[in-house]
Amino acid sequence: MREQRGQAEAIPPVRAEDRPSVSYDQAQPTGPAQNDLVISSRDLYRVFGEGDTAVSAVNGISMDVGQGEFVAVVGRSGSGKTTLLNLLSGLDRPTSGEVTFQGRDLTGLSERDLVELRRRHIGFVFQSFGLMPLLSALENVELPLHIMGTSWRERRRRAQEALQMVGLGARSRHRPYELSGGEQQRVSIARALVTGANAVFADEPTGELDTTTAASIGAILQEVARERKATVITATHDLALAAMSDRIVRMVDGSIEE
Ligand SMILES: Nc1ncnc2c1ncn2[C@@H]1O[C@H](COP(=O)(O)OP(=O)(O)OP(=O)(O)O)[C@@H](O)[C@H]1O
Ligand SMILES: [Mg+2]
Repeated sequence: MREQRGQAEAIPPVRAEDRPSVSYDQAQPTGPAQNDLVISSRDLYRVFGEGDTAVSAVNGISMDVGQGEFVAVVGRSGSGKTTLLNLLSGLDRPTSGEVTFQGRDLTGLSERDLVELRRRHIGFVFQSFGLMPLLSALENVELPLHIMGTSWRERRRRAQEALQMVGLGARSRHRPYELSGGEQQRVSIARALVTGANAVFADEPTGELDTTTAASIGAILQEVARERKATVITATHDLALAAMSDRIVRMVDGSIEE
């Protein structure tokens, strides 16, 4: 399912006229209303392959992440961090177990509804930034809104606002190659937020950055959680980034180490 990452933009719930007519928004919550619970998993398993070569990448994980919470998933290479993030964000489906996003069961959604949900409610930030090289910073940030059919004027306004939030208001006309690595990552954070996404997933967001720049990205993710009250879940080897989170989840062989 990793190839799907390329289409992962982000988008939120804010405007009534932007709401999709898909079943996600019509679906009834599966459990009691828990307004501050955004993402939740129960007995989550993900097995790749079959028989002797089967790899159990995620091994029975149950966790809850609340609104505005900044969680860092840490663990050795191969411990299952990326697999867990992909399951929690609906990029991949579990072999068994359940993932709920704002009270709705993701495992029951069709592929189409999942894509729609990711576009509107979930933002993604990747290690390699994932920006379009020929587009300006502003145009890159506008892209998810473009896909949603937001009007030109509204796109510009919201994209400019998102760039300002990450401190790049004055760089909006620059192309990615005219920006530093840290600035490119800030553009990708702005793109993840521009739709109003209430959950942001960041897989090794500082993996290609020096430590000072990495700290500034950590500070922005912190602000996204505290000021915008978005749920932020990052997988990282960067202990300085993990230290900036509200909670560290340590994975060992696909399980959470208590
Ligand atoms: N598509 C796949 N097919 C088969 N095995 C996979 C697949 N994706 C991941 N795995 C295996 O699942 C395990 C967990 O991988 P995962 O990428 O989640 O680890 P990670 O903690 O993110 O590692 P890293 O820190 O290196 O990014 C590894 O053993 C990996 O080889
Ligand atoms: Mg990984």
